[in-house]
Amino acid sequence: MSLDPVRVQTDHPSHRFSGLRDRFGRCITYLRVSLTTACNLRCIYCGPRRAGRGSAHCDALSDDAVVDIVRAAASLGVKAIRLTGGEPLLRPRVWELVERIVSIREIEEVTLTTNGVLLTDQADTLAAAGLRRVNISLDSTDPVEYSRVTGRDAVSSVLQAIDVAVSAGLQPVKLNTVIGLTSDWKQQVLQVARMAIDRQVCVRFIERMPFGHEGRFPAPTLADVMQCLEGAFDVTPAQGPRGSGPARYYTVNGGVGTVGAIYPLSAPFCATCNRLRVTAQGQLRACLLSDASVDLREALCRPALERHALLCRAFKLAAFAKPRSHGSIAEARIRDMADIGG
Ligand code: 5AD
Ligand code: SF4
Repeated sequence: MSLDPVRVQTDHPSHRFSGLRDRFGRCITYLRVSLTTACNLRCIYCGPRRAGRGSAHCDALSDDAVVDIVRAAASLGVKAIRLTGGEPLLRPRVWELVERIVSIREIEEVTLTTNGVLLTDQADTLAAAGLRRVNISLDSTDPVEYSRVTGRDAVSSVLQAIDVAVSAGLQPVKLNTVIGLTSDWKQQVLQVARMAIDRQVCVRFIERMPFGHEGRFPAPTLADVMQCLEGAFDVTPAQGPRGSGPARYYTVNGGVGTVGAIYPLSAPFCATCNRLRVTAQGQLRACLLSDASVDLREALCRPALERHALLCRAFKLAAFAKPRSHGSIAEARIRDMADIGG
């Protein structure tokens, strides 16, 4: 895969950034923290060990550990935190953790990625705790297809949660739709895109990465997806939502929401990558598709002052280990997306 070299732009606001940078000049401002590897779904694309992983998050980082890790990251320039899993809402009282992270002075935004199954009951509490917005996985609006992909007949709870999240102000609510899961991907794309006509949601079609079961269906390209949308709707370029990352967005039939596509493998955005990841077991990972990681657990056992210093050192090491770009997917040793937090 040939990739654009990473360039440091001298007119970019990053020039005023005094925090952590990697070897290629990229500023590390965003941390994704996986709160558990447990999940109440078993999405076919997620990982081979999904089945039966409904409970144990007891080996995951404690709330105190997460707060200490975020404090260290914040002291080095991280401003945005995304809580992920597994399914983060399986963890008891996530809102308390949100509240604690929000109260860290340097943190400007706390967001959450969820499958939505448990969100309806928690959305208001999470919003009151200071959660800014949510990304919700929605691979199909069709009950039969949804059950086939996720292993659970739960689409109605997720659709309800989407509306509740919009009402709770957790906006922009982004819907993650991994494509190429069915023999008829066009139907999948068109059904989910319709969500953006009358709802204030941002649908993001996501290129399927080859984790979990081997893909049985052909994966559409970005051009295929656009052609499919343009064949069915009046598609107009739109302003991307806040925190919209690398994708381009469009309205469909003049609707209130937007649709876009994220193709991390065939259209990588490594050049602007600003993130590190913490796994539920306390590994700080430099890149989704590289094995480079630093173990935080030992630092977490030390007394407070030393702990902070060691955690900061770990962040510097992980930033240093951040590769220029991810290698080929064939070389990536990811066995289970839920371990790393999507
Ligand atoms: N390919 C692409 N995205 C994936 N996710 C999980 N597994 C994969 C995969 N194999 C992402 C989806 C999901 C989120 C939790 O993680 O976007 O919504
Ligand atoms: Fe659970 Fe997300 Fe994996 Fe689906 S993709 S099984 S919702 S962790």
